[in-house]
Amino acid sequence: MNRAKIRAAEKALNYLKPKIHSKSILGIGTGSTVNCFIELLRSCPTLVKGVVSSSDASTRLLKEIGVDIFSLNDVDEIDFYIDGADEISNDLSLIKGGGGAHTNEKIIASASKNFLCIADESKMVDELGRFPIPVEVLSQARSFVARKLMALGGTPRLRHGFLTDQGNEILDLSGIRVDDPISLEMEINSIPGVVDNGIFGLRKADQIFIG
Ligand code: A5P
Repeated sequence: MNRAKIRAAEKALNYLKPKIHSKSILGIGTGSTVNCFIELLRSCPTLVKGVVSSSDASTRLLKEIGVDIFSLNDVDEIDFYIDGADEISNDLSLIKGGGGAHTNEKIIASASKNFLCIADESKMVDELGRFPIPVEVLSQARSFVARKLMALGGTPRLRHGFLTDQGNEILDLSGIRVDDPISLEMEINSIPGVVDNGIFGLRKADQIFIG
């Protein structure tokens, strides 16, 4: 495991410890940095009551170390959501979804009071957009959405051999400027057939922990 990712996860856990208790429910994202955070929970699986997980992959790891999993439908409010990012801008807008879990990640992040983003320094950028924006699409709308994304000025590329946990496809959109993350996030999501895209402008991170 990458030392910087472990350090970012440690910093977030140290920040959280005095703020959570045995009745707390955490939201947990997906990816290699989050895996470091989950690994830290191995020594303290009862630190919280349980977790709302953003992906099958994280759920599997959490169950392995004895953490209880809750459905978002069964919890009132989540105090803290912990997740990584593929790009982080200075105002804490993000691009996420390199692992294809951004739809669930955005839902849980939006249902949480605080979004703690954990990452290594390489994720910090002056402007979002070098990392292709993952766009989850219903498979029957893939070509239609791809044409609309080209009309926006970008180049969509199908993520071959990949389906999301919801059984949908991903178009990775490159070559488009993200100088106004919220507008672009909404514009892409207004195309019929798009489930959600990986720009986190409406629901940015609240704090970042860089390893
Ligand atoms: C998963 O869909 C993504 O949003 C990840 O959170 C993001 O790609 C960061 O992953 P790493 O921690 O593996 O870089």
